[in-house]
Amino acid sequence: MSFDRAIKIAPSILAADFADFGAECRAIEAQGADWVHVDVMDGHFVPNITFGPQMCAAIRPHVRKVMDVHLMIAPVDPYIEAFAKAGADIITAHVEAGPHIHRTLQAIRATGKKAGVALNPGTNADSVAHLLDMVDLICVMTVNPGFGGQKFIDMTDKVRQLRAMIGDRPIHIEIDGGITTQTAPAMARAGADVLVAGSAVFKGGSAAEPAGYGENIRAIRLAAEVALPGRVA
Ligand code: DX5
Ligand code: ZN
Repeated sequence: MSFDRAIKIAPSILAADFADFGAECRAIEAQGADWVHVDVMDGHFVPNITFGPQMCAAIRPHVRKVMDVHLMIAPVDPYIEAFAKAGADIITAHVEAGPHIHRTLQAIRATGKKAGVALNPGTNADSVAHLLDMVDLICVMTVNPGFGGQKFIDMTDKVRQLRAMIGDRPIHIEIDGGITTQTAPAMARAGADVLVAGSAVFKGGSAAEPAGYGENIRAIRLAAEVALPGRVA
């Protein structure tokens, strides 16, 4: 089966109502989200704390599609099993989270889950050069991790470089942070296929009135798709 490199929108629940995650996940999926991006933060690797594997297990029944778990934690290895058991489909670790990223990715894949590696804005694309056969996803941070609603940091050159390094390997390039209808086109053009968006999706809607979520998802997807090479606007 050919690898699906079509544009995918992955709303980040960091921008959702923390008191109503189940309903929020159901709402964004009903409104067209392709993946649900789950931001795990430990207050050590990043200056913020969100939630752990128990929360992932709690929202799992409300996520029919892909649960894309972004671990902004260090160390990673002691928690991989718990997030796999909680039902994550993709488990992404930061290359900066410790000295043994290769072993971490081995451990993620050993659980049967897909493995992702994330790069902070200051981290070079070359840092994953020896990991391309260990990952199913490369997450390019376009903000310094820890918070939603931050200003986009352009990583076009890094995305282009990664897209060239990947070649025809079945690896997604995910962009995470500050994605809007304004910033999505350049990232799609550079070679990204998964766009994480928190504040740009959850603004102007609610689980009770999710139509705004759908409008936001469609607008970001369209902005990205019309920017793709060879697409007629
Ligand atoms: C930041 C997280 C991002 C963030 C995206 O550390 O990894 O996923 O929630 O939120 P926005 O789209 O609002 O920048
Ligand atoms: Zn994230």
